[in-house]
Amino acid sequence: SYNKTVFPEDFLWGGAIAANQVEGAYLEGGKGLTTVDLLPTGKERFPIMLGNIDTFKPKEGVYYPSHQAIDFYHNYKEDIALFAEMGFKSFRLSIAWSRIFPTGEEETPNEEGLQFYDDVFDELLKYGIEPVVTTCHFDVPVHLVEKYGSWKSRTMVELYEKYTRTIFERYKNKVKYWMTFNEINMLLHLPFIGAGITFNEGEDKNQVLYQAAHHQLVGSALAVKACHEIIPDAKIGCMLAAGMTYPYSCNPEDVWAAMDKDRESFFFIDVQSRGEYPGYAKRFFEDHNLNIKMELGDEQILKDNTVDYIGFSYYASRCTSTDPEVLENQTDGNVFASVSNPYLKASEWGWTIDPKGLRITANQLHDRYQKPLFIVENGLGAVDVVKEDGSIEDDYRIDYLKQHFIEMAEAIKDGVNIIGYTSWGPIDIVSASTGEMKKRYGYIYVDRDNEGNGTLKRLKKKSFDWYKQVIQTNGLNI
Ligand code: BG6
Repeated sequence: SYNKTVFPEDFLWGGAIAANQVEGAYLEGGKGLTTVDLLPTGKERFPIMLGNIDTFKPKEGVYYPSHQAIDFYHNYKEDIALFAEMGFKSFRLSIAWSRIFPTGEEETPNEEGLQFYDDVFDELLKYGIEPVVTTCHFDVPVHLVEKYGSWKSRTMVELYEKYTRTIFERYKNKVKYWMTFNEINMLLHLPFIGAGITFNEGEDKNQVLYQAAHHQLVGSALAVKACHEIIPDAKIGCMLAAGMTYPYSCNPEDVWAAMDKDRESFFFIDVQSRGEYPGYAKRFFEDHNLNIKMELGDEQILKDNTVDYIGFSYYASRCTSTDPEVLENQTDGNVFASVSNPYLKASEWGWTIDPKGLRITANQLHDRYQKPLFIVENGLGAVDVVKEDGSIEDDYRIDYLKQHFIEMAEAIKDGVNIIGYTSWGPIDIVSASTGEMKKRYGYIYVDRDNEGNGTLKRLKKKSFDWYKQVIQTNGLNI
């Protein structure tokens, strides 16, 4: 505890969600089908996220959690009122591309979709809550996947530029914090959810993924350019799924392996923040015989349009080794493959819990980019139990957050410029990796289960009042 808060006066405490995990109303208001609308729960989900899909239509009799989600589309006023009650300074959400351009290719945008987000932003601004908007959070209009193979195709750059220019123009007086692609590095790990990528037989996966990455990176730079032109007083950032890879031992082979692993992710941010392909990426392309097609002018676009801040999610650290025996206990519980770290515990879903890792990651990103940082996701996915009197005592969640806030404060004391913190899923939402409702992050409980049963009623958990007083004291009462 501290006598004086270390958090800046205008620190953006809040929460973060993504359209497809909360809105539901998947075909209402003129919305088109989006990639996530094709993801069921259960064991069928993972192979599709990896890019193996047999149809672009929802199947009869299969339950798709995004179709109704927690019905934020109809409940946003009540939900935002609860966020305001907690004293949120900011709220991160994403716009569903297919609400604005249902197929991705319309001449003119869908007014009903535009109006929906206008209403949401007005509601936030009514309470003085700053909207922080991701232009693309794990969703691509399905039509673009079918017709072009999504980000495999250069055509996506133009369509994405048109979409982002449309939303910058429309919301220029309401939204001052933007982010281009959520967890852009997820493209390498879960290509379908990350970027709508599916694979054809015989395709070289790395070639496909890095070509798609180039298209997203150029798209991201063009969005930065457009945002700066259209909203000169806005800040636009990138978004990294962060968390360091530790070497399992001090064997230099392990240390190098860990560094090499982290570069798979830094690659994206190095381009978005430093404005050019790093040397190690060029070497990787050569070593793997990859031929990334670039157009004349791409390099200049990347160079001229770097991001204003580094947004990142932090849930876990990872660990790697070169020792085959150690590697035997590698799991992908963290989505990213990892050897389990003997010093740390994991969540019920196998995600390593490492509060100090947040301080390490924040310092590392600060050293590397020298730009403001925004922690736009963090939290504990856990099973909650509603007692008979309706109370939910989620002390494990409070404990997780508390430990992370202490390390965030340490990072600020280290001189790292952190401008805000939005915890993931301040209200329970559909899990991105599993499609479950059972994996809850919220301060607010939602009565809905993995099969879609429940009243959708909202209940405050114990952590609700706890987070409220953290914000009220600007982090003094952690
Ligand atoms: C991040 C995503 O990967 O982690 C979110 O940006 C996601 O969309 C979050 O929900 C937590 O993951 P999960 O699988 O527990 O929902």
